Amino acid sequence: MTTTIERPRTTTHAGSPVDRVDGRAKVTGAAPYAADAAIESPLHAVIVQATIARGRILSIDERATRDVPGVVEVLTHANAPHVPTLPFDFATPMSEQLAPLQGTDVHYDGQHVAAVIATTFEAAREGALLLKVVYEHGHPPELDATRSLDVEYPQQYFGTEAQVRRGEPDQAFESSDVQLDVTYSTPNENHNPLEPSVTVAQWRDGELTVYDSTQWVRGTRAVLAKCFDLPEEKVHVIAPFLGGGFGCKGFVWAHLLIAAMAAKVTGKPVKLVLTREQMFTSVGHRSQTHQRLRVGAARDGTLRAVLHDVRNESSRVSTFVEGAGGVTAMLFEIPNIAITHSLARLDVPSSTAMRAPGEAPGTFALGCALDELAYACNVDPLDVLRRNHNAIDGETGLPFSSKHLLACYERGAEAFGWSDRTRAPRSMRDGDELVGWGVATATYPAMRMPAEARVTLGAGGTIEAVSATHDLGTGMYTILAQLVADVFGVEPSAISVRIGDSAFPTAPVAGGSMSSASVCPAAVDGAQRVLRDAIALATSTDASPLYGVPEADVEARDGMLRARNDPARAVAYADVARWANGGELSATGKSGPEEGEPKYSFHSFGAQFVEVRFDEELARLRVSRALGVFDCGRILNPKTARSQMLGGITWGIGMALLEETVRDPRNGAVVTNNLADYHVPVNADVQSIDVLFVEEPDLRFNPLGIRGIGEIGITGVAAAIGNAVYHATGIRVRDLPIVPEKLLFGESNAA
Ligand code: MOS
Repeated sequence: MTTTIERPRTTTHAGSPVDRVDGRAKVTGAAPYAADAAIESPLHAVIVQATIARGRILSIDERATRDVPGVVEVLTHANAPHVPTLPFDFATPMSEQLAPLQGTDVHYDGQHVAAVIATTFEAAREGALLLKVVYEHGHPPELDATRSLDVEYPQQYFGTEAQVRRGEPDQAFESSDVQLDVTYSTPNENHNPLEPSVTVAQWRDGELTVYDSTQWVRGTRAVLAKCFDLPEEKVHVIAPFLGGGFGCKGFVWAHLLIAAMAAKVTGKPVKLVLTREQMFTSVGHRSQTHQRLRVGAARDGTLRAVLHDVRNESSRVSTFVEGAGGVTAMLFEIPNIAITHSLARLDVPSSTAMRAPGEAPGTFALGCALDELAYACNVDPLDVLRRNHNAIDGETGLPFSSKHLLACYERGAEAFGWSDRTRAPRSMRDGDELVGWGVATATYPAMRMPAEARVTLGAGGTIEAVSATHDLGTGMYTILAQLVADVFGVEPSAISVRIGDSAFPTAPVAGGSMSSASVCPAAVDGAQRVLRDAIALATSTDASPLYGVPEADVEARDGMLRARNDPARAVAYADVARWANGGELSATGKSGPEEGEPKYSFHSFGAQFVEVRFDEELARLRVSRALGVFDCGRILNPKTARSQMLGGITWGIGMALLEETVRDPRNGAVVTNNLADYHVPVNADVQSIDVLFVEEPDLRFNPLGIRGIGEIGITGVAAAIGNAVYHATGIRVRDLPIVPEKLLFGESNAA
């Protein structure tokens, strides 16, 4: 795997490829993940899940379970503490409107119906296997989103209009010279972070502490407080390290409450670790999408109308819209548009956000449709993208704060060698293999939320930055250290960053690619306040070598406060801390989105170029080359940013070629609930990935000019691969994943 980074050299730590400051702790095992919580001999809880899709529990026979040595308690609807059903909102982000273990109704295969608590994990698991739950089956379950009669058209998802209409889409489509009417589908997909979801819960003196693998300590705290009727100060949520999250740890799921209940009932700390199998039904998944796109265009590929109808599935106990049409509403110049999103209520587990929810499947469908349009018009696919570029967000009518998508196309085309591409399908070959090149657009919104960070200069000159934000493996520890180090003129290793604790100053969910843009400006604000106070103290304290120097003539450089004109005249931070009242200087920095009506639309962009090779005789398809060029504002750390993009593109390869959660058509049980049957890309599936950044700071978005980078990497990849597959083979696969049999038996629609 190679990666090219061409960028201006920088003299600050921010912008430099600094190694992860938490890297050593992670690779040496010193970093405490939730399951490593330092709690002496916790009890272990193992969850028992429903094995029917719809119906109710008639009886539970606990005798064999309770006979297992070590089993302490069996928690069911008969004895579980009461917890309320919470509506989903961002104050109390409970994913499902189904409080666990509160009744006998079963709404999907995999619903938690009991938990066995024992002194060892093995005893709890044995007890769980021996629990006899007798069910009454309800009506035959509904499992097919395309045939369901129980369909809703939601108004909104996360504040975005779900039903959009502009201009005269039907007429414009009908009267267009070129018309496409194509339907794409993407399957259910599951998050597979290395670290499964974990909760370790402990009650002490009426207070609840949980070590939880969560992307949102504050949201988790709010749910626990509400469910157990506690003031928030009596709930403590700790999550300093996560082994990935990708959305399945963003909102709260039932196992968290079950662990807290188990600890309450037994009066002992309880550890609950979901198994890999349980991860497939317990913490959400990406909804399948069925997307009909009608595209009307002029003969040169200029878009006149797009009608985009999205169908998702939804469980009966939660609502999550996979907003695949959002991209269409925003990304290109489309004068006439109609977008619908519908949800089919099925007897299946609940879906949730997964890396680039909406954009990942949306960019697949739109990105392929524009490639189909290019072939219908006999135009270079990249020219169709350029021709329909817009400067005003069609959805909001606002200008983009900073959009350098054309530069992404240009730099990508040059670096990839796009001009050598011959247009006709099956026209490029290398030995036994057909070669195909595809391109598509990447995009993800840039969001930010109010956030705080407390910066403290303390005894011995230590500097610490503290915020209730998270590092999912993203690099948050490192970029906070870089930014604060720059303010004080010290090395990033001198900054102690503490995050992932609900008692720390507030931060939003580590989701929606918003953490950097929310938390980093707050940390810099806090650091600058402390630095100002430090300079004031250093210039006003008799004993200080800087006594009497005007504050404006003091700078932080090379580890000390120094007189600008006479750098040898300097003060150590340890001395400043000694002079300070109470031995430290501390400030809580704040940042948040601008108040009032927005003037700009904030989005990131990118171009994904892909090469595939297909050996027809072996039906072997490989992604031999991928190049992503991204416009995400200023890049704080090209090393961790590159890593995000490599991960996103790798997942895009999985989405395009491998990943599919398969359910048993009789009862909806997930049959691919393990990493042998659910295929994620491994090294052999990933050949060469290159990443480039168009580094244009977005200063209209926040003072640091940064936009989020966590999710955009996956967007557009599946489309670029699908388009490359068409170019290589002449076969247009419109339903993911593109497995070999679809190419063996697919109908060639090569011209
Ligand atoms: Mo992300 S899917 O918002 O964790």
